[in-house]
Amino acid sequence: MKRKLAAGNWKMNGTNATLGELQTLTAAHPDPRIDILICPPATLIVQAAALTADGPLMIGGQDCHTAPSGAHTGDISAPMLADAGASAVLIGHSERRENHHETNALVADKATSAWSAGLTAVICLGETLAQREAAQTLDVIATQLDASLPGGATGANTVIAYEPVWAIGTGLTPTTAQIAEVHDFLRARLADRLGEPGANAIRLLYGGSVKPANAAKIFAISNVDGALVGGASLKSSDFSPIISALEQA
Ligand code: PGA
Repeated sequence: MKRKLAAGNWKMNGTNATLGELQTLTAAHPDPRIDILICPPATLIVQAAALTADGPLMIGGQDCHTAPSGAHTGDISAPMLADAGASAVLIGHSERRENHHETNALVADKATSAWSAGLTAVICLGETLAQREAAQTLDVIATQLDASLPGGATGANTVIAYEPVWAIGTGLTPTTAQIAEVHDFLRARLADRLGEPGANAIRLLYGGSVKPANAAKIFAISNVDGALVGGASLKSSDFSPIISALEQA
């Protein structure tokens, strides 16, 4: 049985003072029935990994460069993340796709570089509001999945996060039927490429305004294997009930 995954994306939030949230989370979930991943800003990865080394929390990066090293001022490579203590990295988050003009091809190259460093790639995709209103959602998802996921994906090296852009940080969430439609579609599309056992091994996360109040409802949806949580992952008092809801799903 694959373990479900609660992933927190702190984005550009958090300083030394925030790291206490990790200890509170560990104390609240010393032996969780699910995997828990926190992606703090890069400045905190070394300390976060050291603080959580003996507990169940895993630490991840929020982005990586395609190259292992080189003249890329300001960038961080996948082997550097691994060296800092990360075991996973978010790739192709919509804020990276939009703010840094990341293409599907670049996302695929980053995933390959994450795998080479031994990191699990959490590949993010999702439609904009305009695309949903134009009834293009499944076409957009298909294109993003096909072009962002390199060959060689397994349940160990890859997680897919469906995050509708219009649901991120807005308090809006798709209906249960809308989430189910995309997740069922993703599973089937993965099965076309990887076969059913391969597709079933890959965890599909939903992301976008997941909160304690809506978590249980979202986790009951077919083919939802967990969540990628932004705002509600910053405080253990919000993230902990989401973890508990996923454990009980
Ligand atoms: P949110 O962000 O939970 O604050 O909507 C989700 C994400 O961007 O991963």
